[in-house]
Amino acid sequence: GRSLVVAVDGPSGSGKSSVSKEVARRLGLAFLDTGAMYRSVAWHCLNGRINLANAAAVEAAARTINMEQTMVPDAELFKVNGINVTDAIREPKISEAVSAVATNLGARAELVRRQRELIDAHGRRIVVEGRDITTVVAPDAEARLILTASEEARLRRRGLQLGGTQTAEQLAEQVLARDAKDSTVVEFHQAADGVYTVDSSDLDFAQTVDAVIAVVRQAV
Ligand code: C5P
Repeated sequence: GRSLVVAVDGPSGSGKSSVSKEVARRLGLAFLDTGAMYRSVAWHCLNGRINLANAAAVEAAARTINMEQTMVPDAELFKVNGINVTDAIREPKISEAVSAVATNLGARAELVRRQRELIDAHGRRIVVEGRDITTVVAPDAEARLILTASEEARLRRRGLQLGGTQTAEQLAEQVLARDAKDSTVVEFHQAADGVYTVDSSDLDFAQTVDAVIAVVRQAV
């Protein structure tokens, strides 16, 4: 079919992962979670006792590991060198470590290269979600948007996601501190030229999905 790349960027807690997945399902597109690739490299380093402060070693890890993901929105499965890491990459210790990968420019270049390959391998009919998709990975995407939400809404959602077990301080550390670190290498708060913004602060899940699909229909 005709090429339809939907690029979605945004901060953590914006709901971009679950919303992007549902948009892919509804439009019959593949789904690429790029954050899972950064998490997979971080997992591999922690698991293999690779020092995350050693930039050359982290870059080498990004270049050499085998990463697989199903890219079917309903059946998420991530593997690193054949090991199923689907649950492990969501652990807080990975969220804390992942910025060392995200701020490593050599590792970024390699992951961007792999992401472009995956987009092509799926016939360019795919929803791609991350931090630098609209600007770096797929600036030529047919539809590009930033999914955002107020700080309050993002903290509330991540709190619910984590089962209400976190203190306000822990949540702020996980959501705001990580975004602050990520912002040093990628811009995902401000929409670049030609990029739509969907603010989900006052929308529920279904309304947010509808708003994103409306943007896609308008763009193509
Ligand atoms: O989206 P998720 O929280 O799974 O992303 C994990 C981390 O991966 C982010 O905090 C960010 O550091 C990094 N990331 C990135 N560029 C992307 C996607 C994720 O730097 N395109």
